[in-house]
Amino acid sequence: MDKNAPIGVFDSGVGGLTVAREIMRQIPNERIMYFGDTARLPYGSKSKDNIIKYSRQIIRFLQTENVKAIVVACNTASALALDEMQQEFDLPIIGVVKPGAKVAAETTKNKRIGLIGTDSNIRSGVYTKYIKSLRPDVCVFEKACPLFVPLVEEGWLHDSITEQVAQRYLSELKEKQIDTLIMGCTHYPLIRSTLGKIMGDNVNLVNPAYETAIELKSLLNRDNLANRCVIDSPSSMYRFYVSDAEEKFKEFANSILPFDITMTEQINIEQY
Ligand code: DGL
Repeated sequence: MDKNAPIGVFDSGVGGLTVAREIMRQIPNERIMYFGDTARLPYGSKSKDNIIKYSRQIIRFLQTENVKAIVVACNTASALALDEMQQEFDLPIIGVVKPGAKVAAETTKNKRIGLIGTDSNIRSGVYTKYIKSLRPDVCVFEKACPLFVPLVEEGWLHDSITEQVAQRYLSELKEKQIDTLIMGCTHYPLIRSTLGKIMGDNVNLVNPAYETAIELKSLLNRDNLANRCVIDSPSSMYRFYVSDAEEKFKEFANSILPFDITMTEQINIEQY
């Protein structure tokens, strides 16, 4: 395997850029090939069968560029399709659920963890199952928060409407005396300050993107896949592909990445 090859990172759309951003921060000399499935989002309300089909097509597309490893940046796809993808494809594939669940299970002191995410993710119960497999005595309190995704995509990151919605979603979790809250959706780290303000200083917010980048780094080192080359400009390092609405994607990407992306290519993902 070519150590200089890119890491494939995919999501249903723009949200996975929060994961790509963490990888860029923590492993700056790795190339990234990012795919956002903007034609078929949201994944958060889709069935397992469809999410498996979409993930398979995306991985086939990423393989056309000989990626050396894949990160399923989408929490919903990680929960519903990761196991199948790991069985089907012969390359390292990691998701965001296990790293996020693991750190929450390891760090909770009072053994009470909150989990927020999309409908499909919460309904799958995968996060909770994994946390309990690591620490059976932990209680997990789940809450689907589907409105956060459109609010973030609208750019209402520090808006009173977002705060009201968050108050309503989080009120039942506040009553559960949790000391840890997993932000189990790609978009939620972008409203971290609002979530933190509502939950208070005693609740530790877990960002699975951060833990995933750490896991990717150790996987690359362990499998002798880490890129040791010195890297030049973002434009040569990072490539972005979408299945629709390139301009909208680019605008969002430029608002959250530390550089402006110049090139985005639209792909007909159904052909893979
Ligand atoms: N990327 C999805 C996730 O992390 C959120 C957006 C969607 O529903 O597609 O679960």
